[in-house]
Amino acid sequence: MTAFEVRAEGLGKRYGPTRALDSFDLAVPTGTVHGLLGPNGAGKTTAVRILATLLRFDAGRATVAGFDVARQPDEVRARIGLTGQYAAVDETLSGRQNLEMFGRLSGLGGRAARRRATELLGQFGLDGAANRSAGGYSGGMRRRLDLAASLVRPPRVLFLDEPTTGLDPRSRNQVWDIVRALVADGATVLLTTQYLEEADQLADRISMIDAGRVVAEGTPDELKSMIDGDRIEVVVRDAADLPRAEGIFARICAGKPECDPELRRISAPVADRVAGLIGVVQALRDAGIAVEDIGLRRATLDEAFLHLTGRRPEEAGEPVGAVRKVVPA
Ligand SMILES: Nc1ncnc2c1ncn2[C@@H]1O[C@H](COP(=O)(O)OP(=O)(O)OP(=O)(O)O)[C@@H](O)[C@H]1O
Ligand SMILES: [Mg+2]
Repeated sequence: MTAFEVRAEGLGKRYGPTRALDSFDLAVPTGTVHGLLGPNGAGKTTAVRILATLLRFDAGRATVAGFDVARQPDEVRARIGLTGQYAAVDETLSGRQNLEMFGRLSGLGGRAARRRATELLGQFGLDGAANRSAGGYSGGMRRRLDLAASLVRPPRVLFLDEPTTGLDPRSRNQVWDIVRALVADGATVLLTTQYLEEADQLADRISMIDAGRVVAEGTPDELKSMIDGDRIEVVVRDAADLPRAEGIFARICAGKPECDPELRRISAPVADRVAGLIGVVQALRDAGIAVEDIGLRRATLDEAFLHLTGRRPEEAGEPVGAVRKVVPA
């Protein structure tokens, strides 16, 4: 018995000269959500498709629900659900017909498939549109239908490839709630996303991937503390106060302050956002420095990548610079 519901060791996948995955490792404990976070082309979809038995790989090994992905694909398939980046729904069928079709495909009888379709349409807020053809659904409705289709038979392991890309905040929250409910029932979820916030909200652990490799792995908090994510920004009223304000930032903040005299602005990373902000406000007031604007800014995924790989996500080629790794406890 393994405690890891999804496990990959040294996975490799090439497309001609492109290494889509390069010594890719993953270990997802049973009953948890694991996020794969990375820029376009990082290899997220490739990893998910390999683990879901849809794509062959060239190197390494992987197991899902205790079964070998390469040697026991049928055993794996019987235990997983998959929602792809590109929705699998049939546009010519209604929402209800789609769900009934998936039910029949997964082995349910006619009545059971109809019952399950009705249940899911209600749960996903699609009852009103149940009999309309899916081709006329909005992006959010289509995503929800696609997700519902992967849950016709509740899977032990669910793969979600960018489940909320293009959704409005309300639909996004609905999807998050559905994922949380599944995990509360014991499912294990592997989720890819380009949104730091989504990974933060849902994932117990996150792998940041770039150019087919894991460049960092850890809990959201561990990753954020590596990234020096939060910055305090202050615009002072009088440029003559900048040197003194800079001294205050240097004393209170976690990293070197950056100063822009033209905009009369100083910013610096903080370890604890609330304590840092209060400390800076008080010190500026004590020093009699008038402030025009003050704010906290969170790191973007871009900045996280810049920090972890020494380059921006859109720049091609091998990672350079220091790569740190948080080792699972
Ligand atoms: N069928 C294919 N033929 C050739 N190259 C491919 C193919 N599929 C993926 N690739 C390449 O493999 C790399 C990884 O692609 P993948 O789709 O896994 O990335 P991703 O992280 O899912 O990106 P995105 O955020 O855009 O969905 C990319 O360089 C991509 O161009
Ligand atoms: Mg993808």
